[in-house]
Amino acid sequence: TVTPVLLCGGSGTRLWPLSRKSYPKQFVPLVGDETLFQATAKRVSQGRYAAPLVLTNSDFRFIVTEQLAEIGVDPGAILIEPEGRNTGPAVLAAALWLEKSNPDTVMLVSPSDHVIPDSVAFDAAVAIAQDAAADGDIVTFGITPTHAETGYGYLELASQPSGTEAVSLTKFVEKPDAAKAAALVASGKHLWNAGIFLFSVKTIIDAFRKHAPDLMEPVQAAVDEAEADLGFLRLASGPWSKAENISIDYAVMERSSNLSVVPFSAGWSDLGGWDAVWRETGQDDRGVAVSGRATAIDCDNTLLRSEDDRVEVVGIGLNHIVAVAMPDAVLIADSRRAQDVKLAVQSLKDRN
Ligand code: GDD
Ligand code: MG
Repeated sequence: TVTPVLLCGGSGTRLWPLSRKSYPKQFVPLVGDETLFQATAKRVSQGRYAAPLVLTNSDFRFIVTEQLAEIGVDPGAILIEPEGRNTGPAVLAAALWLEKSNPDTVMLVSPSDHVIPDSVAFDAAVAIAQDAAADGDIVTFGITPTHAETGYGYLELASQPSGTEAVSLTKFVEKPDAAKAAALVASGKHLWNAGIFLFSVKTIIDAFRKHAPDLMEPVQAAVDEAEADLGFLRLASGPWSKAENISIDYAVMERSSNLSVVPFSAGWSDLGGWDAVWRETGQDDRGVAVSGRATAIDCDNTLLRSEDDRVEVVGIGLNHIVAVAMPDAVLIADSRRAQDVKLAVQSLKDRN
């Protein structure tokens, strides 16, 4: 079996005003009726999968239990991080926790804010990854790049994929600058890193020990001294605060040589901005997507959303616009500037 490790501690500022610090995007129904977190948990809830291990922070712990109960998924355990230290310490804590019961456990680390519509194809990719993990590999999932995205990791393949086996990686490059990203895409040898990983507990602990040794002591202590609290397991805050804030991509992936990839072409989006939500929401033939009490008249390439039953949103003659209305905030933006929403969030923070 495979134990899903669901990461849901991030804050998703680029989807403001829907995604809030207190209620981030993974817990909101962004596309369809379920939240992204629920869709993620469901995707890995049957067949080869054991009960999931969820890692989140204190603020979201009841949202997590409520949303899992709604879809009838029982978590194996919920680990609470006293503060966000990024995905490096979070994944290491998960591995050290799972090691206590069985060091041979295979873990599938998954973000909880991605859209993967075809769960059958995803499960087939996981099966291929399991074979490679049995050989001691750290397995990534690769997406065919469509543009020179600087927010992703890039996977350099050692050979052409066959479709039935994982392919070795010669390199992992996390978040290259624009020029480098363009060169990597042009080379034709690279895939995007989907941010989903599969490995055995033993393999990943060895990798942390080798490539990020300073994390070992604080994270091990935080796990050993964790306290049970109303069904949650709270990592010890003293040692946890000494763990470096670093993503698993920088801490382990860029430094490892036993990496492989399973290419995945059945559809994936990390909904990294409103432009991506617009792309994933059902559109008419002029590229218009509406949700909630919203009406588009003579618009093109536009997303209109109302998140409040009392608020009517109407657009007339718009092109390339994203408009999102909440009870207490409205965003109106050029959809090609969707990534700049995080600047708005920053300036609001500075003002308050
Ligand atoms: N529990 C927990 N604790 N979860 C966290 C934390 C944390 O401290 N920090 C981030 N997460 C969760 C986020 O909620 C998200 O689901 C996932 O971990 C990945 O973190 P991001 O912060 O979204 O990473 P990224 O998007 O910048 O980059 C990663 O994903 C890309 C694909 O979407 C990298 O793996 C890239 O290489 C990859 O291309
Ligand atoms: Mg992300």
